[in-house]
Amino acid sequence: MIAPPNRGHLPVMRDEVIFALRPHAGARFIDATFGGGGHAALVLEQSFPDGRVLALDADPEARPRAEAIRASLENPDRLVLVQANFAEIAKVAEQLRFTQVDGVLFDLGLSSFQLDDPERGFAFRTDGPLDMRMNPGTHPTAAELIATIDELSLMQLLREYGEEPRARQIARAIVQEREKESIVSTAQFAALVEKAVGGRRGAKTHPATRTFQAVRIAVNQELDSIERGVRSAIDVLAPGGRLVTLAFHSLEDRLVKRIIQEESATCICPPEMPVCVCGVTPRLRRVGGSRKPTSAEIAHNPRARSAIMRIAERLPDAS
Ligand SMILES: C[S@@+](CC[C@H](N)C(=O)[O-])C[C@H]1O[C@@H](n2cnc3c(N)ncnc32)[C@H](O)[C@@H]1O
Repeated sequence: MIAPPNRGHLPVMRDEVIFALRPHAGARFIDATFGGGGHAALVLEQSFPDGRVLALDADPEARPRAEAIRASLENPDRLVLVQANFAEIAKVAEQLRFTQVDGVLFDLGLSSFQLDDPERGFAFRTDGPLDMRMNPGTHPTAAELIATIDELSLMQLLREYGEEPRARQIARAIVQEREKESIVSTAQFAALVEKAVGGRRGAKTHPATRTFQAVRIAVNQELDSIERGVRSAIDVLAPGGRLVTLAFHSLEDRLVKRIIQEESATCICPPEMPVCVCGVTPRLRRVGGSRKPTSAEIAHNPRARSAIMRIAERLPDAS
């Protein structure tokens, strides 16, 4: 068994991910979102004795977790972690001569280590600084963004990234509040949003859920990174290599689905064209439809409940 028991974060849809990636001896994989290394450790275990994993994570706090896994390997060089945004996946892979790989995994969003640490500012149930950066070396923080953005842009951001129906009310309340007092803590921000929408009104989720999602996406430019990262992951896959994604909300999933659809399209000519003239060669083949975790997994790990998994396979380049 590789790696220390990693109780901080349970790898979501672990069996399905491993089945999709098909690790075997000698294979090489990129884990674009290392987190606690749960999936990476399984891939290393299943590709014993010489399978290799290049792992990326924007968060420097992933480093000690990678070191713990490396220390449990007979050959620690089987795992390399680079602190990088996965938007740069092709650049990192080329620098480390880790191209033509057998699989790339994107397990999007946040790890439990990040969500459960109040100091990272992602959670509204515990109080902490309003930060929300995956990489604390970047700017702005959530507090900085909220302090400077104009009301219209804030409303648009809440609509676009949070799909928040009460974006106008919330944006107004934030701007009014910051004129009186700086908004610097997660509890303060959550309470302000809750008040702006008139309380909980019996809703199952906290009224600030969508606002927190929107601000987090903006702070980390998450959708742009997914677009760039997933597209360039296709460049580093060998023919037959697998792209496996786990998304946790509809914006992420819609984006991944669109990329896979576009990259699998065999023809993009308008329907009225009698014959194909576009010359498009697909780079991917979709493998089945979307998959969801079992109810048993959700019962064991409620954070898996919104997961949507997609698989695609790299096609050979046109000759
Ligand atoms: C859901 S966790 C991954 C968990 C991991 N699969 C495991 O089993 O432990 C997502 C991780 O991806 C990282 N991440 C999210 N967006 C990123 C990006 N654009 N570039 C690099 N890392 C990113 C986060 O910092 C987080 O550690």
